[in-house]
Amino acid sequence: MTFWSPSGRTVVCGIIGDPIEHTLSPVMHNAAFRDKGIDYLYLPFRVKSERVGEAVVGMKALNIKGLNVTIPHKVTVMKYLDKIDSVAEKIGAVNTIVNGNDVLTGYNTDASGFLQALLDRGIDPAGKKVVILGAGGASRAISFILAERGAYLTIFNRAVNFKRVKDLADRISQISTSEIQALELNRENLERVLDDADILVNATSVGMSPDINETPVAYGLLKSGLVVFDIIYNPVKTRLIKEAEMAGAITINGIDMLVWQGALAFEKWTEQKAPVNLMKIEVTKALEGNEK
Ligand code: ATR
Repeated sequence: MTFWSPSGRTVVCGIIGDPIEHTLSPVMHNAAFRDKGIDYLYLPFRVKSERVGEAVVGMKALNIKGLNVTIPHKVTVMKYLDKIDSVAEKIGAVNTIVNGNDVLTGYNTDASGFLQALLDRGIDPAGKKVVILGAGGASRAISFILAERGAYLTIFNRAVNFKRVKDLADRISQISTSEIQALELNRENLERVLDDADILVNATSVGMSPDINETPVAYGLLKSGLVVFDIIYNPVKTRLIKEAEMAGAITINGIDMLVWQGALAFEKWTEQKAPVNLMKIEVTKALEGNEK
Protein backbone atom coordinates (compact mmCIF):
# COMPACT_ATOMS: atom_id res chain seq x y z
CA MET A 1 0.00 0.00 0.00
CA THR A 2 1.37 3.41 -0.88
CA PHE A 3 1.65 5.95 1.92
CA TRP A 4 -0.74 8.86 1.54
CA SER A 5 0.22 12.25 2.94
CA PRO A 6 -1.63 15.57 2.89
CA SER A 7 -0.14 18.34 0.75
CA GLY A 8 -0.70 22.07 0.30
CA ARG A 9 -3.68 21.24 -1.91
CA THR A 10 -5.40 18.91 0.55
CA VAL A 11 -8.95 19.88 1.51
CA VAL A 12 -9.43 19.67 5.28
CA CYS A 13 -12.58 18.54 7.10
CA GLY A 14 -13.07 17.40 10.68
CA ILE A 15 -15.19 17.10 13.78
CA ILE A 16 -15.45 19.29 16.86
CA GLY A 17 -16.67 18.03 20.24
CA ASP A 18 -15.61 17.51 23.84
CA PRO A 19 -14.70 14.75 24.59
CA ILE A 20 -13.64 13.56 21.14
CA GLU A 21 -11.33 10.62 21.96
CA HIS A 22 -13.81 7.91 20.93
CA THR A 23 -15.12 9.39 17.70
CA LEU A 24 -15.49 6.92 14.79
CA SER A 25 -15.90 9.66 12.19
CA PRO A 26 -12.20 10.04 11.18
CA VAL A 27 -11.92 6.33 10.33
CA MET A 28 -15.12 6.44 8.32
CA HIS A 29 -14.38 9.64 6.37
CA ASN A 30 -10.67 9.09 5.69
CA ALA A 31 -11.44 5.59 4.35
CA ALA A 32 -14.10 7.14 2.11
CA PHE A 33 -11.75 9.88 0.85
CA ARG A 34 -9.00 7.35 0.04
CA ASP A 35 -11.53 5.05 -1.63
CA LYS A 36 -12.67 7.86 -3.90
CA GLY A 37 -9.07 8.94 -4.56
CA ILE A 38 -9.79 12.52 -3.54
CA ASP A 39 -7.32 14.79 -1.80
CA TYR A 40 -9.26 15.32 1.45
CA LEU A 41 -8.32 14.77 5.10
CA TYR A 42 -10.59 14.48 8.18
CA LEU A 43 -9.32 15.39 11.65
CA PRO A 44 -10.75 15.30 15.19
CA PHE A 45 -10.61 18.58 17.15
CA ARG A 46 -11.29 18.71 20.87
CA VAL A 47 -12.93 22.11 21.33
CA LYS A 48 -13.98 23.40 24.74
CA SER A 49 -17.43 24.95 25.06
CA GLU A 50 -16.11 28.47 25.62
CA ARG A 51 -14.10 28.32 22.36
CA VAL A 52 -16.76 27.01 19.96
CA GLY A 53 -17.21 30.43 18.33
CA GLU A 54 -13.49 30.77 17.63
CA ALA A 55 -13.38 27.27 16.17
CA VAL A 56 -16.36 27.79 13.85
CA VAL A 57 -15.35 31.24 12.62
CA GLY A 58 -11.78 29.87 12.33
CA MET A 59 -13.01 27.57 9.54
CA LYS A 60 -12.89 30.59 7.26
CA ALA A 61 -9.37 31.66 8.27
CA LEU A 62 -8.00 28.11 7.99
CA ASN A 63 -9.99 27.31 4.85
CA ILE A 64 -11.57 24.24 6.43
CA LYS A 65 -14.18 22.85 4.03
CA GLY A 66 -16.44 21.10 6.51
CA LEU A 67 -16.97 20.18 10.11
CA ASN A 68 -19.14 17.70 11.93
CA VAL A 69 -20.33 18.85 15.31
CA THR A 70 -20.90 16.54 18.22
CA ILE A 71 -21.75 16.68 21.92
CA PRO A 72 -21.96 19.22 23.52
CA HIS A 73 -21.82 21.80 20.68
CA LYS A 74 -24.73 20.96 18.34
CA VAL A 75 -26.89 23.84 19.59
CA THR A 76 -24.20 26.42 20.40
CA VAL A 77 -22.60 26.38 16.93
CA MET A 78 -25.79 27.70 15.36
CA LYS A 79 -25.22 31.31 16.37
CA TYR A 80 -21.87 31.44 14.55
CA LEU A 81 -23.19 30.25 11.18
CA ASP A 82 -24.18 32.41 8.19
CA LYS A 83 -27.07 30.17 7.08
CA ILE A 84 -29.03 27.30 8.58
CA ASP A 85 -30.94 24.71 6.60
CA SER A 86 -34.68 24.78 7.39
CA VAL A 87 -34.80 21.26 8.92
CA ALA A 88 -31.80 21.98 11.18
CA GLU A 89 -33.45 25.27 12.16
CA LYS A 90 -36.68 23.51 13.16
CA ILE A 91 -34.80 20.82 15.09
CA GLY A 92 -32.65 23.48 16.75
CA ALA A 93 -29.39 21.56 16.28
CA VAL A 94 -26.61 21.36 13.67
CA ASN A 95 -24.22 18.43 13.21
CA THR A 96 -22.69 19.35 9.84
CA ILE A 97 -21.19 22.65 8.64
CA VAL A 98 -20.26 23.37 5.02
CA ASN A 99 -17.87 26.21 4.19
CA GLY A 100 -18.80 27.48 0.71
CA ASN A 101 -16.53 30.40 -0.19
CA ASP A 102 -16.55 31.77 3.37
CA VAL A 103 -20.29 31.26 3.82
CA LEU A 104 -20.91 28.76 6.63
CA THR A 105 -24.13 26.72 6.32
CA GLY A 106 -25.42 24.36 9.01
CA TYR A 107 -27.33 21.11 8.40
CA ASN A 108 -28.67 18.27 10.52
CA THR A 109 -27.62 15.02 8.88
CA ASP A 110 -28.42 13.09 12.09
CA ALA A 111 -32.04 13.60 11.12
CA SER A 112 -31.67 13.07 7.37
CA GLY A 113 -29.27 10.15 8.01
CA PHE A 114 -31.86 8.44 10.19
CA LEU A 115 -34.46 8.81 7.46
CA GLN A 116 -32.03 7.65 4.78
CA ALA A 117 -31.18 4.53 6.83
CA LEU A 118 -34.88 3.60 6.73
CA LEU A 119 -35.37 4.46 3.05
CA ASP A 120 -32.27 2.48 2.15
CA ARG A 121 -33.95 -0.60 3.61
CA GLY A 122 -37.05 0.06 1.53
CA ILE A 123 -39.05 1.46 4.45
CA ASP A 124 -40.80 4.79 3.91
CA PRO A 125 -42.24 6.10 7.21
CA ALA A 126 -44.79 8.34 5.43
CA GLY A 127 -48.25 7.47 6.75
CA LYS A 128 -46.83 4.86 9.16
CA LYS A 129 -47.43 4.62 12.92
CA VAL A 130 -44.09 5.19 14.64
CA VAL A 131 -43.29 4.75 18.32
CA ILE A 132 -40.28 6.71 19.55
CA LEU A 133 -38.72 6.06 22.96
CA GLY A 134 -36.91 9.01 24.55
CA ALA A 135 -37.14 12.78 24.40
CA GLY A 136 -33.49 13.90 24.33
CA GLY A 137 -31.49 15.47 21.50
CA ALA A 138 -31.47 12.34 19.34
CA SER A 139 -35.21 11.84 19.74
CA ARG A 140 -35.82 15.47 18.80
CA ALA A 141 -33.95 15.17 15.48
CA ILE A 142 -35.66 11.86 14.66
CA SER A 143 -39.14 13.03 15.67
CA PHE A 144 -38.94 16.19 13.54
CA ILE A 145 -37.78 14.40 10.39
CA LEU A 146 -40.41 11.67 10.80
CA ALA A 147 -43.17 14.23 11.36
CA GLU A 148 -42.00 16.14 8.31
CA ARG A 149 -42.13 12.93 6.28
CA GLY A 150 -45.77 12.44 7.34
CA ALA A 151 -45.49 9.68 9.96
CA TYR A 152 -47.92 9.41 12.91
CA LEU A 153 -45.86 9.66 16.07
CA THR A 154 -46.21 8.46 19.64
CA ILE A 155 -43.25 9.62 21.72
CA PHE A 156 -42.56 8.10 25.14
CA ASN A 157 -40.50 9.32 28.08
CA ARG A 158 -40.18 8.32 31.72
CA ALA A 159 -42.94 9.71 33.96
CA VAL A 160 -40.39 11.68 36.03
CA ASN A 161 -39.43 13.64 32.91
CA PHE A 162 -42.79 13.66 31.16
CA LYS A 163 -42.58 17.44 30.63
CA ARG A 164 -39.66 16.88 28.26
CA VAL A 165 -41.71 14.74 25.91
CA LYS A 166 -44.81 16.93 26.25
CA ASP A 167 -42.76 20.00 25.22
CA LEU A 168 -41.26 18.10 22.28
CA ALA A 169 -44.66 16.94 21.04
CA ASP A 170 -46.06 20.48 21.40
CA ARG A 171 -43.16 21.93 19.42
CA ILE A 172 -43.52 19.44 16.61
CA SER A 173 -47.29 20.02 16.50
CA GLN A 174 -46.65 23.72 15.87
CA ILE A 175 -44.72 23.08 12.68
CA SER A 176 -46.33 19.92 11.38
CA THR A 177 -49.81 18.72 10.54
CA SER A 178 -48.80 15.17 11.46
CA GLU A 179 -50.53 13.56 14.46
CA ILE A 180 -48.28 13.51 17.54
CA GLN A 181 -48.99 12.15 21.00
CA ALA A 182 -46.80 12.09 24.10
CA LEU A 183 -47.09 9.25 26.62
CA GLU A 184 -45.48 8.08 29.83
CA LEU A 185 -43.12 5.16 29.34
CA ASN A 186 -44.67 2.15 31.07
CA ARG A 187 -45.56 -1.38 30.07
CA GLU A 188 -49.29 -0.78 29.81
CA ASN A 189 -48.95 2.21 27.46
CA LEU A 190 -46.28 0.49 25.39
CA GLU A 191 -48.35 -2.67 25.01
CA ARG A 192 -51.38 -0.72 23.83
CA VAL A 193 -49.49 1.43 21.31
CA LEU A 194 -47.14 -1.26 19.98
CA ASP A 195 -50.06 -3.51 19.21
CA ASP A 196 -50.86 -1.39 16.21
CA ALA A 197 -47.45 0.21 15.41
CA ASP A 198 -45.37 -0.18 12.23
CA ILE A 199 -42.02 1.14 13.45
CA LEU A 200 -40.35 1.29 16.89
CA VAL A 201 -37.34 3.57 17.46
CA ASN A 202 -35.19 3.40 20.58
CA ALA A 203 -33.74 6.88 21.09
CA THR A 204 -33.00 6.33 24.79
CA SER A 205 -29.64 5.19 26.13
CA VAL A 206 -31.17 2.00 27.58
CA GLY A 207 -29.07 -1.00 26.46
CA MET A 208 -25.95 1.01 25.71
CA SER A 209 -22.57 -0.33 26.82
CA PRO A 210 -21.81 -1.11 29.65
CA ASP A 211 -25.49 -1.81 30.52
CA ILE A 212 -25.88 -4.28 27.67
CA ASN A 213 -28.35 -6.53 29.50
CA GLU A 214 -30.97 -3.79 29.68
CA THR A 215 -33.75 -3.27 27.17
CA PRO A 216 -36.43 -0.57 26.95
CA VAL A 217 -39.11 -2.98 25.62
CA ALA A 218 -40.00 -6.40 27.05
CA TYR A 219 -39.56 -9.29 24.61
CA GLY A 220 -43.26 -10.19 24.79
CA LEU A 221 -44.23 -6.82 23.27
CA LEU A 222 -42.18 -7.33 20.10
CA LYS A 223 -43.86 -8.86 17.07
CA SER A 224 -43.09 -10.18 13.65
CA GLY A 225 -43.18 -7.57 10.89
CA LEU A 226 -42.51 -4.61 13.21
CA VAL A 227 -39.52 -2.49 12.15
CA VAL A 228 -37.23 -2.04 15.17
CA PHE A 229 -34.60 0.70 14.84
CA ASP A 230 -32.20 1.02 17.78
CA ILE A 231 -29.96 4.08 17.36
CA ILE A 232 -27.40 2.66 19.82
CA TYR A 233 -24.29 1.38 18.01
CA ASN A 234 -22.27 0.25 21.01
CA PRO A 235 -22.84 -2.68 21.31
CA VAL A 236 -23.48 -3.26 17.61
CA LYS A 237 -26.33 -5.62 18.55
CA THR A 238 -28.24 -4.45 21.60
CA ARG A 239 -30.48 -6.75 23.60
CA LEU A 240 -33.46 -5.01 21.96
CA ILE A 241 -32.12 -5.81 18.47
CA LYS A 242 -31.37 -9.44 19.39
CA GLU A 243 -34.83 -9.96 20.86
CA ALA A 244 -36.49 -8.19 17.93
CA GLU A 245 -34.72 -10.60 15.56
CA MET A 246 -35.97 -13.53 17.66
CA ALA A 247 -39.51 -12.16 17.45
CA GLY A 248 -39.29 -11.96 13.65
CA ALA A 249 -39.10 -8.15 13.48
CA ILE A 250 -37.13 -6.25 10.82
CA THR A 251 -34.12 -4.70 12.57
CA ILE A 252 -31.90 -1.70 11.88
CA ASN A 253 -29.05 -0.81 14.23
CA GLY A 254 -27.31 2.41 15.17
CA ILE A 255 -24.41 1.86 12.78
CA ASP A 256 -26.75 2.56 9.87
CA MET A 257 -27.72 5.96 11.29
CA LEU A 258 -24.09 6.78 12.15
CA VAL A 259 -22.91 5.85 8.66
CA TRP A 260 -25.73 7.63 6.83
CA GLN A 261 -25.26 10.88 8.77
CA GLY A 262 -21.58 10.66 7.78
CA ALA A 263 -22.37 9.76 4.18
CA LEU A 264 -24.71 12.74 3.75
CA ALA A 265 -22.07 15.09 5.24
CA PHE A 266 -19.43 13.56 2.91
CA GLU A 267 -21.66 14.25 -0.09
CA LYS A 268 -22.12 17.90 0.92
CA TRP A 269 -18.37 18.47 1.28
CA THR A 270 -17.19 16.54 -1.78
CA GLU A 271 -20.20 16.66 -4.13
CA GLN A 272 -19.54 12.96 -4.76
CA LYS A 273 -21.55 9.89 -3.89
CA ALA A 274 -20.40 8.41 -0.57
CA PRO A 275 -19.07 4.81 -0.53
CA VAL A 276 -21.63 3.84 2.10
CA ASN A 277 -20.79 0.13 2.28
CA LEU A 278 -17.11 0.78 2.79
CA MET A 279 -17.89 3.37 5.49
CA LYS A 280 -20.05 0.80 7.25
CA ILE A 281 -17.35 -1.86 7.10
CA GLU A 282 -14.72 0.53 8.51
CA VAL A 283 -16.95 1.71 11.38
CA THR A 284 -17.92 -1.87 12.25
CA LYS A 285 -14.25 -2.94 12.29
CA ALA A 286 -13.35 0.00 14.54
CA LEU A 287 -16.22 -0.80 16.92
CA GLU A 288 -15.38 -4.49 17.07
CA GLY A 289 -11.76 -3.52 17.79
CA ASN A 290 -12.97 -1.33 20.69
CA GLU A 291 -15.05 -4.20 22.09
CA LYS A 292 -12.01 -6.48 22.33
P1 ATR B 1 -29.41 12.15 23.51
O1 ATR B 1 -28.97 13.54 23.21
O2 ATR B 1 -28.46 11.09 23.03
O3 ATR B 1 -30.80 11.90 23.07
P2 ATR B 1 -30.22 12.61 26.26
O4 ATR B 1 -30.61 14.01 25.93
O5 ATR B 1 -29.44 12.35 27.50
O6 ATR B 1 -29.32 12.00 25.10
O7 ATR B 1 -31.54 11.69 26.22
C1 ATR B 1 -31.54 10.37 26.61
C2 ATR B 1 -32.96 9.82 26.59
O8 ATR B 1 -32.90 8.49 27.15
C3 ATR B 1 -33.95 10.58 27.47
O9 ATR B 1 -35.24 10.53 26.90
C4 ATR B 1 -33.90 9.81 28.77
O10 ATR B 1 -35.05 9.92 29.57
P3 ATR B 1 -35.20 11.13 30.66
O11 ATR B 1 -35.60 12.35 29.89
O12 ATR B 1 -36.27 10.60 31.55
O13 ATR B 1 -33.85 11.25 31.33
C5 ATR B 1 -33.80 8.41 28.23
N1 ATR B 1 -33.33 7.47 29.28
C6 ATR B 1 -32.08 7.41 29.80
N2 ATR B 1 -32.01 6.40 30.71
C7 ATR B 1 -33.26 5.82 30.75
C8 ATR B 1 -33.84 4.73 31.47
N3 ATR B 1 -33.13 4.02 32.35
N4 ATR B 1 -35.14 4.42 31.23
C9 ATR B 1 -35.88 5.12 30.33
N5 ATR B 1 -35.38 6.17 29.60
C10 ATR B 1 -34.10 6.51 29.81
